[in-house]
Amino acid sequence: MKIDLSEKVIIITGASSGIGNYLAKKYCEEKCKLVVCYNKNVDEAMKLESYLKNKGCKYMLFRVDIKISREVVIMMGKVVKKFGKIDVLINNAGIILDNTLLEMSDKQWDSVISTNLTGTFICCRECAKIMRTQNFGKIINISSLKGQIGSEFQANYCSSKAGVIGLTKSMAKELCVFGITVNSVCPGFIETNLNMGMETKKERATSESLLDIKNNLDSLSCMLAFLSSNLSNGVTGQVFNVDSRLI
Ligand SMILES: NC(=O)c1ccc[n+]([C@@H]2O[C@H](COP(=O)([O-])OP(=O)(O)OC[C@H]3O[C@@H](n4cnc5c(N)ncnc54)[C@H](OP(=O)(O)O)[C@@H]3O)[C@@H](O)[C@H]2O)c1
Repeated sequence: MKIDLSEKVIIITGASSGIGNYLAKKYCEEKCKLVVCYNKNVDEAMKLESYLKNKGCKYMLFRVDIKISREVVIMMGKVVKKFGKIDVLINNAGIILDNTLLEMSDKQWDSVISTNLTGTFICCRECAKIMRTQNFGKIINISSLKGQIGSEFQANYCSSKAGVIGLTKSMAKELCVFGITVNSVCPGFIETNLNMGMETKKERATSESLLDIKNNLDSLSCMLAFLSSNLSNGVTGQVFNVDSRLI
């Protein structure tokens, strides 16, 4: 059995850093047509662009703030114009702004909810409008174990990621009639800009994991490749913990 992503048009949000950046480079090897997005990190986006160019990948690069509907609509429109369709959307972009519950400002709450949850919703909604006309599409929302079990100092982040799971399940029920699948994936701990320097979190993840956390990123990319491929056509509304922590 072979995972075949060739000729698929795949959008990855948050590709200028961490998980999204790694995925973009992995997917590029699969001969798909890649759409990679970033928000603020122009330098890393340019590095990714030259990487994709050197590899001969068919790609489009967008600077898009997923919180802003207008920017997302324009991007999706340009993708369909150039590549003719959208097969897969991976909603990966996300942020954290940790604080104690008692000291968390409205702004810290709103920023995380509006990026991680509202931004994901906007991308899902706009992409689903296009996928509905194709009668096919796969949406994968990156959530987090923290959205299932909670975490101190991360009420905003955990709420946003729990929301992403609710969004995923609701969309799966509503969009199945259009041949669109919607699933959520919760990565294990992966060291990126998101959690850089958070040694306590890394130590905790390491001690709670039954297996070596070094394998988390590879396993994640394999799970996402499966969910992006036709091999997963019978799977929707699910939440996959790609992790060896038990809950
Ligand atoms: N790392 C982990 O252990 C872990 C575990 C569970 C879940 N996750 C989830 O995995 C996803 C990726 O995390 P990561 O660790 O790779 O984080 P990261 O290295 O900080 O990357 C986050 C990406 O999201 C983009 N982004 C942030 N705000 C955006 C916005 N408003 N519009 C568009 N793009 C935006 C960033 O773009 P710019 O830098 O260009 O602004 C960046 O490319 C997140 O959803 C995170 O919650 C991560």
